[in-house]
Amino acid sequence: MRKRIIAGNWKMHKTMKDAASFVESVKGELPGDDQVEAVVCPPSLFVAELAKLAEGTSLHIGAQTMHEEKEGAFTGEVSPMMLADLKVSHVILGHSERRQYFNETDETVNKKVHAAFEYGLTPIICVGESLEERESGKTVEVVTGQVKKAFEGIDSKLASEAVIAYEPIWAIGTGKTATAEDANEVCKEIRSAIASEYDDEVAGQVRIQYGGSVKPDNIAELLSMGHIDGALVGGASLEPESFLKLLGAAV
Ligand code: G3H
Repeated sequence: MRKRIIAGNWKMHKTMKDAASFVESVKGELPGDDQVEAVVCPPSLFVAELAKLAEGTSLHIGAQTMHEEKEGAFTGEVSPMMLADLKVSHVILGHSERRQYFNETDETVNKKVHAAFEYGLTPIICVGESLEERESGKTVEVVTGQVKKAFEGIDSKLASEAVIAYEPIWAIGTGKTATAEDANEVCKEIRSAIASEYDDEVAGQVRIQYGGSVKPDNIAELLSMGHIDGALVGGASLEPESFLKLLGAAV
């Protein structure tokens, strides 16, 4: 039985004060970590403070991205070593916005997956097709290609601990969600790709989230699907009440 994982990706939103007040509001209301894995990924600037505020609660703090090197002359970047030192537990890698605006490629995502595991961080590896790719029938080819490349050189024990977030690009922040059946079908193909790279056991352990306009009122249907183990949520993760509803639906 795979534990569900709901991760909030705050993207470039909130002040430090708002971020702290979010954690203060949710921390007494969280379901137990054995029921659902609850993760919030704030902007990097807030990670240290939020990790302290969340200490002793079931809320995990994640990062939205990181560099693949431990340290070096990479102005503006944060490293896996720094995140691990701050007790950050998860890191989103290869989000489509990073691929689109910050030149992330399947190769850099793969390097980052290696680096995340080296420092004990759980990677949330984002994959997804554009509208054009979907309309030309290339969804499965594109998405499974991204998955295979991201896992290159990762051994099966670590692979089984990874989280994959399937986010059709056309559904992000648009209010358009893939139907639960369509999303499940792609997640099933992702799981088959993992089975062919590794084996059925690893494929049965990898958790796959859906992301793209997930809201409290559509999450239950998505989670009722056999291959969807959670959600990576942008807009609807920003308010405590809405985040708690998402978690509630996953318990
Ligand atoms: O990482 C989260 C996704 O990009 C989804 O964002 O829930 O605002 O559509 P959204």
